[in-house]
Amino acid sequence: MSTRTPFIAGNWKMHLDHLEAIQLVQQLSYRLNPRDIAEVEIAVIPPFTALRSIQTLIEGDKLELGLGAQDAHWEDSGAYTGAVAPPMLAKLAVDYVLVGHSERRSRFGDDDDVVARKLGAVQRHGMIPILCVGETLEERDAGRAEEVVDRQLRAALAGLDRPHEVVIAYEPVWAIGTGRTATPDDADHMCAAVRRIVGEIGGDTQAVRVQYGGSVKAGNAGDLLARPDIDGALVGGASLDPDGFAAICRAGR
Ligand code: G3P
Repeated sequence: MSTRTPFIAGNWKMHLDHLEAIQLVQQLSYRLNPRDIAEVEIAVIPPFTALRSIQTLIEGDKLELGLGAQDAHWEDSGAYTGAVAPPMLAKLAVDYVLVGHSERRSRFGDDDDVVARKLGAVQRHGMIPILCVGETLEERDAGRAEEVVDRQLRAALAGLDRPHEVVIAYEPVWAIGTGRTATPDDADHMCAAVRRIVGEIGGDTQAVRVQYGGSVKAGNAGDLLARPDIDGALVGGASLDPDGFAAICRAGR
């Protein structure tokens, strides 16, 4: 039986203005009961424009919710139009920052070197990186899934003294936004591989928390989260529905 606290995070991606974000968090808080909150760590990861509003709501109403950001630059300041620096996020009481999400890798050119820089900068400012790794369908069909995840993990974590202090989200690219969820067996196998690799680079395999992401829904969350090497979920589309996301959080208990 794992001693790791299940961790469910909702990545809202580029959805909801700050007023809609406030409404979603209020609706979610009405749906989560004390036992859900006591037994599962829950975080919301809104667009940058809603961070201040959600931080104010969480603090003002003393909500038991973590706050995440979807990205961060690796410099503390500078001529980087459109980017957001880690100290700015830390000032907003952000707890977690996604780094290496496949959409950042494929659409914004975040390569392994950029991901490693961002991860280090997030840690330097006292926030917890959620490192996203995962293979494409072509890589899986070629039997290279573990090889790709191994490369991504070592590139991002190799320099760290305590790599288990990073949350890792295994998100097969072919499952993101497609409705094609990995089977619990496959997801658990890859999360176990992630855990093994963290151990090989000096991390505590029992301490590291490994999430699965990719078309997690209320209907499949229970089977996924029951697996020994899956410690939680990084949820996209389903996190925009308060009922569905609350059900996923409940499935993590
Ligand atoms: O970061 C989580 C996201 O990539 C998963 O998206 O819509 O497949 O749950 P979705």
